[in-house]
Amino acid sequence: MEEKNMNIPNHVAIILDGNGRWAKKRKMPRNYGHTQGSKVLEKICEEAYKIGIKYLTVYAFSTENWIRPKEEVDALMKLLRNYLSTSIKTSMKNNMKVRIIGDKSALPEDMQESIRKLEEATVNNSGLHFQVAINYGGRDEIIRAVKAISQDIKMNKMDINDIDVTVFERYLDTADIPDPDLLIRTSGEVRLSNFLLWQLAYTEFYFPEVLWPDFNKEELWKAVEYYNGRKRKFGGVS
Ligand code: IPE
Ligand code: IPE
Ligand code: MG
Repeated sequence: MEEKNMNIPNHVAIILDGNGRWAKKRKMPRNYGHTQGSKVLEKICEEAYKIGIKYLTVYAFSTENWIRPKEEVDALMKLLRNYLSTSIKTSMKNNMKVRIIGDKSALPEDMQESIRKLEEATVNNSGLHFQVAINYGGRDEIIRAVKAISQDIKMNKMDINDIDVTVFERYLDTADIPDPDLLIRTSGEVRLSNFLLWQLAYTEFYFPEVLWPDFNKEELWKAVEYYNGRKRKFGGVS
């Protein structure tokens, strides 16, 4: 397929999966897979924007991932912490606007501070809108939104009858971000694992076998090609 004739999805969401299996195949510790996976993510951000993707949202750590062995959780937090504190420079260079989605209040204070700085520094950038889901769960996000709406009703800032889809979306972590057009989950797993439950209502799904640390430019193009072969529908109408 000719790359120039491709219909590029505006928003791509990715469940980065398979780091552990990738490392195991190489007889290496799981954390080696996570380190490799984080390097791949930086490259994919650049590639995604180059091919015209405007929004990229990735699942980096779920509300369920805390039950992994402490050593692994610590290693993942170290990688994320490192990303948050060092990425202002690259984000400014690449004109990238970064937003962290998920329950940030449960993260260590220094990470919350890095998130504030990173989001503030990049808020006016007009390049790739990059959302990283950390301590994110779709159910948790919806419950937090319900609580915030209830609070506003209690304070007489809103009436129950005002609640509709558009109003509800303003209370989600993804407020003002269009819904994903394409979801990619690597490693052959075919489930959502609590990712963007509300936002994926009409998204096209793609489940390649490739493990995340092996994902690259060619794999991204394959995903875009797959998307181009789909006939999108909404309410039975194309
Ligand atoms: C994805 O890789 C990374 C995170 C969930 C943080 P996994 O760690 O889930 O790798 P597998 O699924 O065990 O191979
Ligand atoms: C989902 O992957 C979470 C992230 C990619 C951050 P998991 O590997 O944790 O999900 P399950 O347990 O296989 O469903
Ligand atoms: Mg996994």
